[in-house]
Amino acid sequence: MNVIPTGQALGAEITGIDLSKDVSAADREFIVNAYTEHLVLLFRGQSLSFDDLLRLREVFGPPGKAANQLLGLGRKKYLPDEVPDDITIISNITDAAGKPIGALGDGEAFWHTDSSFTETPISASLLHAIEVTEQGGETGFINMYKAYDEMPAGLAAKVNGRHANHSKVHNSAGMRRPEFAEVTDPSKAPGVRHPLVRTHPATRRKCLYLGRRQNAYIFDLPVPESEKLLDELWAHTCQEKYAWHHKWRVGDLLVWDNRCTMHHRNPFSPNARRLMHKSTTAGEPVT
Ligand SMILES: [Fe+2]
Repeated sequence: MNVIPTGQALGAEITGIDLSKDVSAADREFIVNAYTEHLVLLFRGQSLSFDDLLRLREVFGPPGKAANQLLGLGRKKYLPDEVPDDITIISNITDAAGKPIGALGDGEAFWHTDSSFTETPISASLLHAIEVTEQGGETGFINMYKAYDEMPAGLAAKVNGRHANHSKVHNSAGMRRPEFAEVTDPSKAPGVRHPLVRTHPATRRKCLYLGRRQNAYIFDLPVPESEKLLDELWAHTCQEKYAWHHKWRVGDLLVWDNRCTMHHRNPFSPNARRLMHKSTTAGEPVT
């Protein structure tokens, strides 16, 4: 195997492995070391079944659950019986009756980290491309270690030691989950409290942990001050110098560490088809 870094703030391609076959202990160690160093890994040309995607996640951690189950909302209604509970379908495709076969549609998915609205958010996300778009649908990533390390001193002083509420109400495309009421005051949004700066359990390095901007709230501040500080923090974090954007091909598998990265998806044409399969690993409480 070889590791080919993107040359940008994070991400590397791993070549020379067929992930449809069992991963040896030596290969596993090689892959996990690259994952720890580069935060996002790309494997091209992979042909993977649902079972492969569920087996592969265990290279990166213990099995994790899909967002709906983490929220206690049960199984996604649209999932056909042949899709295992721990697989999420990300797609804009509809079935013969016009019902979506997957989540997130064709719109933009705003910068976020997966499932930060739970006490114990997932760690790795594995996303495998089955159908891709010619244009749009690219996935971007941000290195949250770098964003933390390079915070201006004034901003760092305002952020260190603070905690934020991570709202459960909207998904990453900004769509409200029907089980929750619309939020009018972000300080009262149903959610979970996490520190704005976390220590990665494997590397022991500090990084920013922001979740998503929509309905975020920094505890112990009046809402206008929380909004102002969040805007400043997000403007600092979402700079291109901390980012890498991936243009998908069929057969790509991307694996990212949600504990130290955020991701974003560009919108694409509603006439185009995009189909992705996703599995996850369980993480740890955020400290
Ligand atoms: Fe996501």
